[in-house]
Amino acid sequence: MLIDGHGRKVNYLRISVTERCNFRCQYCMPEKPFSWVPKENLLSFEDLFLFIKVGIDEGIDKIRITGGEPLLRADLDSFVKMISDYKPDIDLALTTNGFLLKETAQKLKDAGLKRLNVSLDSLKAGVAMKIAQRDVLIKVLEGIDRALHVGLGVKINSVPLKGINDDEVLALLEFAKSKNLQIRYIEYMENRFAKEKLQGLNAQEIQDIISTKYSFKPVGRVASSPAHLFELEDGYRFGIIDPHKHDFCEDCNRIRLTAEGMLIPCLYFDEAMSIKESVQKGDVQAAANVLKEVLANKPEKNKWSSDSENETSDRAFYETGG
Ligand code: 5AD
Ligand code: SF4
Repeated sequence: MLIDGHGRKVNYLRISVTERCNFRCQYCMPEKPFSWVPKENLLSFEDLFLFIKVGIDEGIDKIRITGGEPLLRADLDSFVKMISDYKPDIDLALTTNGFLLKETAQKLKDAGLKRLNVSLDSLKAGVAMKIAQRDVLIKVLEGIDRALHVGLGVKINSVPLKGINDDEVLALLEFAKSKNLQIRYIEYMENRFAKEKLQGLNAQEIQDIISTKYSFKPVGRVASSPAHLFELEDGYRFGIIDPHKHDFCEDCNRIRLTAEGMLIPCLYFDEAMSIKESVQKGDVQAAANVLKEVLANKPEKNKWSSDSENETSDRAFYETGG
């Protein structure tokens, strides 16, 4: 079992397999100029897998593959299969923008993927295009349908932004509900890579909009999940992720690995250690030592609290997968 320096059990690893993305969501990426980390700096799936085996042997039983956009990495299904063959009962999920899902859903399912989260910020083609800075809506909707069709579990992530898509909170809820998917609204997290002057709706504002049409009650949080869940009268549940409140830090169970092999104990802070050298040498013990050290130094909580609202982390979400 993996225990961090504050006594929390850590069983959840998030792996960003690439920082690259085919979208340029205003809340995540600068428009241009833009230069990616060269591909040769990325760890191969084999190298990443060596570390994953160390993590699983020590107690990791939940893995999420993120990006950038993870489906941009060729043969992602082969990586999914490596993990799922090693530990078939692992809770293995993916976060994607959905654009390439139509073509890949079946292969991912066959490789052992169980569920995925798809970002969907608008149901209007023009607004989706404004946010992602690319015409994306139709492909994403087709991707969601294909994923459901092949039997993958799907959740929707949505970031409501003032003056951009804040008039679609109810429409997105009703879309998700009609497909029996959970939607989770995420408060915009300030960061220096986002377009200037963006403002997100906060958790209360999101609830206020939903309550103009529906009655609902809070039903708490699944342990170690950042989403607060709410239930409509007919039993449908939606979630709100409120990083500014950071009450989920108390039972935080996660660490993050980037495509370049940086192991990150907390999304908010810049601290990280590299596993690159250890895995490229095939040195399992050295990789395990880095893991232990990162856990010992995992911070107690993030700082997106309301009194430091505009404080931003130096690391982009497209590197860490949010
Ligand atoms: N604030 C809130 N959510 C964000 N995401 C990316 N950047 C931000 C941000 N600045 C979310 C997207 C996507 C997931 C990968 O992370 O909505 O669903
Ligand atoms: Fe790409 Fe996701 Fe960032 Fe949008 S939020 S630019 S889809 S990595």
